Amino acid sequence: MKNIVELNHPLITHKLAILRDKNTGTKEFRELANEIGTFLCYEAMKDASLEETIIETPIAKINTGILNEDKYAFVPILRAGMGFVDGVINVIPNAKIGHIGMYRDENTFKPVNYFFKVPKDIEKREVIILDPMLATGGSALDAIELLKEKGVKKIKFLCMIAAPEGLEAVTKVYPDVKIYCAHIDDHLNENKYIVPGLGDAGDRIFGTK
Ligand code: PRP
Ligand code: URA
Repeated sequence: MKNIVELNHPLITHKLAILRDKNTGTKEFRELANEIGTFLCYEAMKDASLEETIIETPIAKINTGILNEDKYAFVPILRAGMGFVDGVINVIPNAKIGHIGMYRDENTFKPVNYFFKVPKDIEKREVIILDPMLATGGSALDAIELLKEKGVKKIKFLCMIAAPEGLEAVTKVYPDVKIYCAHIDDHLNENKYIVPGLGDAGDRIFGTK
């Protein structure tokens, strides 16, 4: 599938292995989620354009480039997307942050929207959506639609684990949205959980179960 980047690195496999382990506790889970978030964001910034600048080092003058951090916004999907925010903010500390609140209905598996608050000038920014899990793709599709309605032109989606079903659903509707995931897992089970996955990301980040 086009426009999907899967991080392929032994360190990511190592960190994901610990994260997936059902015996890993909340503190370590949060730390690992943020670390993986940093790597995902680093990868997602590979195509960033820089503004030319001249810098004087203690030794010489050079023509180099700097990132205009005012061109970016992170938008975590609540709750679990919050588990990434510290990690991505390490990479672009001055980016603005919006929030989209949604949860998956337990019976229909469709997302229910309950909150939407984004920076006023969101349409001028590249938006990086954060959500650890891309399962059916329903939450991602709704989040992208809400941001497009606000006039956002460039959207990227960062997740830790994606299911092939969700990737197909999102890329079919929004081929322009580039998806970065730490790993593409096997399939969804009858409850639309990712297999092997890591369970319920929100519950594991916040210790609610
Ligand atoms: C999880 C996850 C995604 C969504 C993915 O959220 O964080 O937002 O499910 O599933 P989908 O691709 O099938 O839409 P959840 O509903 O568990 O809410 P929470 O983050 O508040 O726990
Ligand atoms: N949401 C989760 O938190 N985990 C899954 O496997 C699917 C949806």
